[in-house]
Amino acid sequence: MQDQINQYTADIEAFNPANADELEAFRIKYLGTKGLIKDLFEQFKSVGPEEKRVFGKVLNQFKQMAEAKYAELKETLDGQQTTNNGQQQDLTLPGNGFEVGSRHPLSLVQSEIVDIFKRLGFVVAEGPEIEDDWHNFSALNFPDEHPARDMQDTFFIKKNSGKDDIALRTHTSSVQVRMMENGKPPFRALMPGRVYRNEAISARAHCFFHQIEGLYIDENVSFADLKQTLYHFVQELYGEGTKVRFRPSYFPFTEPSAEMDISCTICKGAGCNMCKHSGWVEILGCGMVDPNVLENCGIDSKKYTGFAFGMGVERITNLKYVIKDLRLFSENDVRFLKQFKTEMI
Ligand code: PHE
Repeated sequence: MQDQINQYTADIEAFNPANADELEAFRIKYLGTKGLIKDLFEQFKSVGPEEKRVFGKVLNQFKQMAEAKYAELKETLDGQQTTNNGQQQDLTLPGNGFEVGSRHPLSLVQSEIVDIFKRLGFVVAEGPEIEDDWHNFSALNFPDEHPARDMQDTFFIKKNSGKDDIALRTHTSSVQVRMMENGKPPFRALMPGRVYRNEAISARAHCFFHQIEGLYIDENVSFADLKQTLYHFVQELYGEGTKVRFRPSYFPFTEPSAEMDISCTICKGAGCNMCKHSGWVEILGCGMVDPNVLENCGIDSKKYTGFAFGMGVERITNLKYVIKDLRLFSENDVRFLKQFKTEMI
C-alpha cells in the first residue's frame, strides 16, 4: 500500500494538464467516486490495527495532497480560460477596432457659428457661469425692479439686497461686461457658453441652454454694420438666399433693440409647424449697445459705439436638424448622439 501511495504521489506531482479535459480525467481517476483514492480507503478497511494507525495518517495526507493539487490546477486553467478560452490565441487576427465617437450636435453647431465669425475677425471670450449681480444685471442697465431679476427666471445662489446677489448667469452678456471692463476698444468678440434660467423642463424649454453672444465696439459702428454682419452670418450658416427681417424689440442693454427673424429653413417660407405657418422664425436678439452700458464699463460713449447680439444654440441647431424635443440635447442617449457624425457639418 505504501508503494502504491508513493507511486501515485509521484504521478500526481508530475501531472501537468494541457486543458480542462485532461484535468477532469485526473479528477475522475484519483478523486472520483470510483477513483484510486476511494480504492485505497477500501483496502484500508481490511488492514490490521497496527497498520491502521500508521496508514490512517499517511492516507489522509495523500488525499489532501491530491485535492490541493486538483484545486490549484483548476484555478490556473480557469484563469487561462477567461483570458483566451483555453485556446492558443491567433496573433494574426485583426484587433478590435475603436468606435469613433461623434461630436455633440450643439458643439458642432457652436463651432460652425464661431468659425463664421472668426473669418470676420471675431475672437472667442469666456467667463464664469456663477456671476454677481453687477456683471449679469446692473452693469447691463437692468433697472432694480426688472422682472428678469425675479426668482422666476434666475437661479440665485445668494440673494440679499440686490447688489450682493450671486446667481447662475442668465445670459453670456456678463462676459461682454467683463471684456469691456478689462480691455480697451476696439472689441470684436463672441461669447459662447451655458446659461441658466429657472424654467420648468419640457420639450420646448429647459433650465439651462447654450448661448452665443457677440460684441462689436469701435469708432463709427452703426446699425448698418449690425445688419450686414448678421445678414452675412445667416447666408453662411443656412445658405445663400435665406431672408432676414428685423423687428423692433426691447433689451435693457441695447438701444435701439431688435429681434431678427429668418425665412423658415424647413419650409423655405411656405409655412410649417416649425415657423407656426408664418414662414419666419426668430433666431436672435440684437441692438446697439446702450451708452449707459459703455459708461458702466469705463468706455467713452461719445467716442465709441457698438452692437451686440445673442442667440440660443439649441434654437439654431433645431433649425438645422429639426430636433423636436430640447431634452434630447442633455439626455446623452447614444442613439441620438451618434447620428451627428462630424461630416455633417
Ligand atoms: N442677452 C440677451 C438674452 O439673453 C440676448 C441679447 C444679447 C440681446 C445682446 C441683444 C443684444 O436674451
